[in-house]
Amino acid sequence: MRLVRTAGELRAALALSRAEEIGLVPTMGAYHAGHLALLRAARDENDLLVVSLFVNPAQFDSGDDLTAYPRDEERDARIAAEAGADILFAPSVEELYPPGYQTWIDVEELSRGLEGAARPGHFRGVATVCCKLFNLVRPTRAYFGQKDAQQVAVVRRMARDLHLDVELRVVPTVRDEDGLALSSRNVRLSPEERTRALALHRALATRDPNRARELLDGVAVDYVEVADFEPRVLAGAIRVGDTRLIDNVVLEGDPE
Ligand code: PAJ
Repeated sequence: MRLVRTAGELRAALALSRAEEIGLVPTMGAYHAGHLALLRAARDENDLLVVSLFVNPAQFDSGDDLTAYPRDEERDARIAAEAGADILFAPSVEELYPPGYQTWIDVEELSRGLEGAARPGHFRGVATVCCKLFNLVRPTRAYFGQKDAQQVAVVRRMARDLHLDVELRVVPTVRDEDGLALSSRNVRLSPEERTRALALHRALATRDPNRARELLDGVAVDYVEVADFEPRVLAGAIRVGDTRLIDNVVLEGDPE
């Protein structure tokens, strides 16, 4: 696996590979089995596997959340290499957002509700960095997790609206045995908080918004809503202590 840090190095590594089908897995690191599922799918379906590792400041609405984001590049690089990545693109913030940077992608409607309401500017940051990564890597396919259903909807709309020639592949949510969706934020939960967090998936698994809200009585719920993405989902967000958790279940189409 080659570790590259600049757009120039990335272009050179891609040109050298002469791959026909390139799979891209965009990530912010702190790998768990959810990321591994994306890496595995991308490895299976492409000649060349490019993984990006970039904690994108533009998608964090709070400086504290950005500072608290878990980082361990050495561990992540080892995991990516073991999963068969050919290129790990781990740029600095200055590489992607140099002084004077001022171009943003705003997927207006899809960015507004649910996570967008709770995290102003979040999806503008996600759409912008994904567009930059698609332009840099020119992947045949890019891999995203169903866990972040609104992110998938936003990126899909952006790719369509801007005529980006990339196929989005969506990988089902990977869960712990007890149903908790894997997330890099789960490490912040105490054992007692983790038990409380399980309520979210149990509630969403009813696939009924009213029933789910009843089951979440006493929990700090941000929202529980049916969202008309492709496919339609019942999505929810709760706060457990200082940690905000999201999850969704697919209501139609591919079973989760
Ligand atoms: P990150 O949170 O690192 O997630 C990278 C990818 O892994 C995303 O597509 C996410 O949906 C997927 N993922 C996370 N947990 C998962 C799980 N339990 N099961 C399946 N897939 C899971 O999402 C981001 O980074 C960023 O917003 C990014 C797209 C990289 C743009 O900065």
